[in-house]
Amino acid sequence: MAETHKEIVKVWIAPGCIVCDACETDCPEVFDVQEETCIIRPPALKPDFTRPLTPSIITAAEGCPVDVIKFDMIDVDGPEPAEWAKQKEAAEAPAAAGGGAGGGGGGGAAAAVSYAPPDPKWVQLLEAAHVSGSRSAGGPRSVIRTAKVQPESIQQALPLGAPPDAQFATMVGTGFVKAGKSVADRIRETAEKKVAASTGMTRRGFGVTLAAAWGALVFVSATSLAWLQSFMIPKAPILPPTRVRVGKLSAYSELGVYEDYKPQNIWIVTLEEEGVKKVVAINTVCTHLGCIPNWLPAAQIFKCPCHGSGFRKTGINFEGPAPRPLERFKVEVDATGTLIVDKGTKFRQELGQWSNPAAQILV
Ligand code: SF4
Ligand code: FES
Repeated sequence: MAETHKEIVKVWIAPGCIVCDACETDCPEVFDVQEETCIIRPPALKPDFTRPLTPSIITAAEGCPVDVIKFDMIDVDGPEPAEWAKQKEAAEAPAAAGGGAGGGGGGGAAAAVSYAPPDPKWVQLLEAAHVSGSRSAGGPRSVIRTAKVQPESIQQALPLGAPPDAQFATMVGTGFVKAGKSVADRIRETAEKKVAASTGMTRRGFGVTLAAAWGALVFVSATSLAWLQSFMIPKAPILPPTRVRVGKLSAYSELGVYEDYKPQNIWIVTLEEEGVKKVVAINTVCTHLGCIPNWLPAAQIFKCPCHGSGFRKTGINFEGPAPRPLERFKVEVDATGTLIVDKGTKFRQELGQWSNPAAQILV
């Protein structure tokens, strides 16, 4: 049966890339890790470009932590190209180095440092700066060359018999490589970016919004407490003004009872007492139990509908249970001739207060 091998003719990135950089480290010819996602470089969209890079692409796909690198392969007659062995060897060399590569290991003292001439594999590897966490000494997936260091120096510094992570730590310590962000950090950053993109909110914006929300909560709480306090704690009642302007005094020149201000518990009454014509303001509240009597013009009396008390036009009680006359309010006339009734000051006949000048306006 004729020998065949597989070659990649199409590569693409499925949704979910966490921009960890690993694929670009493994196969920079094909993968371009950008700010938000990884893309396939335009030349790599052609089968002729990807076919010779099949081993590197497979390495990158296997190393993708979220398995979003996808590809199609075809069967090709014949053995694998010779250079593929080099690609695979380069990808696996770091792991092998952990087990004694470089010609200086081979199971000697665990932390021994070899000063033998640099192993060509190391030279090739380090010159290419191809250090991948998944393929190399077990360190973080992504590393970046930060300084040009002679491979011999690295080779001499590496504790070749040490565990892979110790070797990687040494490489970081030389300044030759810098550990990239951990996968966890990249996942976190990607999640934050997605949240920011979907809500239009950056982390700073989120902080501002959170502060505003707290402010609103405090405001609502304070308002509620103030309302509760206002509801629970009794306050001094707000009384209506006691002084009522009831029009010009001249409007009350005729003898009679004026009921215009009865809704304000005031009867303006013009009467004659002991031959003196006067204007008085009578309180409409019955002195029995507080009902409001009615003025009966035909009978010229005030009659209380509750228990039948009767009061003459002057306010003197003459029938029913009312124990005393109706009260009179203080009256005065201002400079414009307007009659003002002050309901805050009352005069009681049984106490001899009706004779007070303030209880009447003589006309
Ligand atoms: S390895 Fe995978 S997750 Fe990482 S950048 Fe490449 S495609 Fe994205
Ligand atoms: S309240 Fe007026 S008579 Fe009783």
